[in-house]
Amino acid sequence: MTETQFTPRVFSGIQPSGNLHLGNYLGALKRFVDMQGPEWETVYCMVDLHAITTWQDPADLMHSTRELCAGFIAAGIDPEQSILFNQSQVPEHAQLAWVFNCVARMGWMQRMTQWKDKAGKNQQNASLGLFAYPSLMAADILIYHATHVPVGDDQKQHLELTRDIAIKFNNDFGVDFFPITEPVIEGAATRVMSLRDGAKKMSKSDPSDMSRINMTDDADTIAKKIRKAKTDPDALPSEADGLENRPEARNLVNIYAALSDLTVDQVLAEVGGKQFGEFKPMLAELAVEKLSPISTEMARLMGDQAEIDKILARGAERAREVTVPVLQRTYEIVGMVGAKQV
Ligand code: TRP
Repeated sequence: MTETQFTPRVFSGIQPSGNLHLGNYLGALKRFVDMQGPEWETVYCMVDLHAITTWQDPADLMHSTRELCAGFIAAGIDPEQSILFNQSQVPEHAQLAWVFNCVARMGWMQRMTQWKDKAGKNQQNASLGLFAYPSLMAADILIYHATHVPVGDDQKQHLELTRDIAIKFNNDFGVDFFPITEPVIEGAATRVMSLRDGAKKMSKSDPSDMSRINMTDDADTIAKKIRKAKTDPDALPSEADGLENRPEARNLVNIYAALSDLTVDQVLAEVGGKQFGEFKPMLAELAVEKLSPISTEMARLMGDQAEIDKILARGAERAREVTVPVLQRTYEIVGMVGAKQV
């Protein structure tokens, strides 16, 4: 009873909360850019409705959303080729999320580790939106019938929940309407760790600015942060095995590999035996070479906000060509009077 041929379609989202950093670039943006191509449609979303599950200053939220859009484009997302927009301009995400709130079970949501981490000890005081967050995420993906979703490792559980929601919906209503989405999980090589602690992810919320490279940092700041990055006293190994139990060394080599589109082994074949005193300037030079054109382009784009808003509005319009019919068909399946036949 296959109703739909699922066209290969990639969907992913990033929250517009706070500054973009190297971890977002290598772990998300650059991968999204690399996935643009003839094999599939690519849909990329600034998930502003997810951002407000914890309180955001409204002016900051608008700024972050536009800056994230500038970041996407500066990193190489072509807004003609990909569909690029902010979530709140496509109301079908939230509408489908409501239906999914009625499909997902309390127990499923309570098991989510991100919910437990974020709500902490004070679950009674967390927003209902934070609890329902994964159901909106499932709607983001399934409203496009997306088949592939590139995300970080920390989102794996939410993607499993997305599959569970699709399966239960299809079962409950005896249809084969929502696809079972494939996660495309980021490998360790693209997971960027803090420059101060190789065991922690690079994060916008780390109190130390020295722990991360922001996409808006200038060349001197980037070079300084790399120079001061934590390392160990040993020389670099010539093979990947030699990075075991050396999280800081591994992180810097991973960053070098990701920025230069080489494998870790290829990098080590070149730099094995060097001390950090020699390797760090090489890494700093590479980082500046790759990142400064992006930050310059972001700044240029941010100078013309009307243009960014136009791009987002146009992206939302294109997104709705997909989402409106999927929501109508969902409503029809569920039994809503007035659902339009599409
Ligand atoms: N939860 C994701 C994160 O924090 C962001 C996100 C929201 C997302 N909706 C999505 C990612 C849909 C992939 C697909 O990283």
